[in-house]
Amino acid sequence: MSTTLSISLSVNGEEITRLVEPRETLADFLRRDLQLTGTHTGCEMGVCGACLVLLDGRPVHACLTFAVQASGAAVETVEGLTESAAIADLQRAFHERNALQCGFCTPGMLVTAHGLLARETLPSRAEIRDALSGNYCRCTGYEAIVDAIETVARRRAAGEVSAAFLEEPA
Ligand code: FES
Ligand code: FES
Repeated sequence: MSTTLSISLSVNGEEITRLVEPRETLADFLRRDLQLTGTHTGCEMGVCGACLVLLDGRPVHACLTFAVQASGAAVETVEGLTESAAIADLQRAFHERNALQCGFCTPGMLVTAHGLLARETLPSRAEIRDALSGNYCRCTGYEAIVDAIETVARRRAAGEVSAAFLEEPA
């Protein structure tokens, strides 16, 4: 009996078909099979938020999602969000506010922030903190991260585009 299943899904806009074991997590699939290592695994139990990706536009824990559950769906990882410039203003604000602390937790923070601002145009600081409650940073505080997300919410609401991330003319 076959121990693998064929899945087809879109990852960062690319249609992909692969054989996976039924118990392979989406996090392992992205990291091992597709080398998309921006999605990190920390706790592997849905607590730290390092593994967050978008599944059909919704933030999900890739460590708690089986790869087979993503079959037929669209997955976006931090790499895809970066390439499409969907989080360029968030990345810039994290940089400006010194909120880019380590490469381990930051991708999940950016996915959380992106998901939050897709749902809420101008979240309060309490709402930003609430959204970040599933992202663990083990090093320091969240003040700069909240500042950065609040800054982007205000900039987007004011219709500001981050000039530093506009493409250079050819
Ligand atoms: S690795 Fe998924 S929440 Fe920690
Ligand atoms: S800055 Fe990444 S875990 Fe603290």
